[in-house]
Amino acid sequence: MSAPRHIVILAAGQGTRMKSALPKVLHPLAGRPMIGHVLDTALALDAAGIHVVRGHGGDQVQDWVSSAYPNAPLYWATQVQQKGTAHAVLQALPAIPDDAEVLVMYGDVPLTSASTLQGLLEAGQQTLAVLTVELSQPRGYGRILRDERDKVIGIVEEKDASDAQRAIHEINTGLMAAPAARLRGWLSRIGNKNANAEFYLTDAVALAVADGLRVETVAARCSADVEGVNDKLQLARLERLLQQRQAEALMREGVQLADPARFDLRGTLQAGRDVKIDVGCVLEGTVVLGDRVQLGPYCVLRNVRIAADTVVSAHSVLEDCEIGEDCRIGPFARVRPGSVLEREAHVGNFVELKNTRLGAGAKANHLAYVGDAQVGARTNIGAGVITCNYDGANKHRTEIGEDVFVGSDTQLVAPVRVGDGATIAAGSTITREVPAGGLTIARAREQKTIAGWQRPRKKR
Ligand code: UD1
Ligand code: CA
Repeated sequence: MSAPRHIVILAAGQGTRMKSALPKVLHPLAGRPMIGHVLDTALALDAAGIHVVRGHGGDQVQDWVSSAYPNAPLYWATQVQQKGTAHAVLQALPAIPDDAEVLVMYGDVPLTSASTLQGLLEAGQQTLAVLTVELSQPRGYGRILRDERDKVIGIVEEKDASDAQRAIHEINTGLMAAPAARLRGWLSRIGNKNANAEFYLTDAVALAVADGLRVETVAARCSADVEGVNDKLQLARLERLLQQRQAEALMREGVQLADPARFDLRGTLQAGRDVKIDVGCVLEGTVVLGDRVQLGPYCVLRNVRIAADTVVSAHSVLEDCEIGEDCRIGPFARVRPGSVLEREAHVGNFVELKNTRLGAGAKANHLAYVGDAQVGARTNIGAGVITCNYDGANKHRTEIGEDVFVGSDTQLVAPVRVGDGATIAAGSTITREVPAGGLTIARAREQKTIAGWQRPRKKR
């Protein structure tokens, strides 16, 4: 039987350089807290236990993780004082069985691939295995020390390193794998006689060598794979890297991005064939785009499902809504939560919809607010129409039938209903039910002209 796999995620550090009230590992990358990316990778490795070492902002971290991963085999260990990486791992060890294989990950190193870590775990089945990478600028990292026969003999932290050691470019990424029983032995022997007076996990290397073991190294595919986040510059760097990877994956699936460097996906996108996305779009949550859907420049979509052949023009914002086939939306349209557009509906510039269903072929092309409403098929909502859905205390519904013509600048004071085929004259304030067919007109008074009328003059 193979050894149970346990993963320790170190997430106790304060993240001082982020200069933020938010715990470092909760800062989002592609819309998801950093630690979420680490947990996704850990879960992909089929761990029997995932042990998160919490510290600074621990309650916040645990709250998010527990609600985002209700079914993960999570264990929590608290490191009250941050006394170093070895001390941190020690907090998790009591819950890990002796026959386990252990992988140590960092909550602030979010983009390591599962395949790289799989290799590290395999290398660490009998001994200590360290994930390393060659950096042209190794400053700040622990350096890998090798003897003249290239055998690893230790890791020295930058602060404790000699000039010659600082010239080494092979660095410790911090990620390690080892059998639990051995790790337990080494950690119990690690001291804190160093420049930081911390218990360094990296000292396990020299102890393993002293035990007569050969310490294995696994080289990361690229430095991006193992980059950590210490400040907001690095956070932004990794964000771009991740966005680039996502964009490349989408383009390989056939999505046409006008510019992959100007596309942000903060969630998941499922796209049909021949989908085109212009520059500057931001897609959040779960977005589904049918065949041939086109998004114009600078659109923002959050939890939206759009059926085939619909075109969304520039600067439109759509949230928690469902759009049918062959609709036309925007430019500058806002479709708010709870809205549904049936096929061939049109929503034009400066039109806001909220919790509204537009029937097939219905149109609201200019400057309108339609909220808490139902609009029948083929009905035309004129420019400047407003559903007065809010009386200052409660919201009320407006129900408009099919083939209705609502004249420009009409106010529909809800709750109110408009029958099929009705025409409402421009400028009407509708407060009572409008019967089907016929012309309904509700203006304050008839138009008249006062001859010889003088415009008011400015007082001196
Ligand atoms: C560590 C490594 C260094 C490596 C570098 C890679 C040690 C001694 N050094 O240095 O060789 O090149 O990572 O980025 O291991 N943490 C805790 N509790 C603690 C201390 C740290 O949970 O008491 C967590 C931090 O939140 C962080 C991770 O461990 O996620 C690394 O800690 P950090 O202080 O950043 O280590 P480095 O000095 O960068
Ligand atoms: Ca660090």
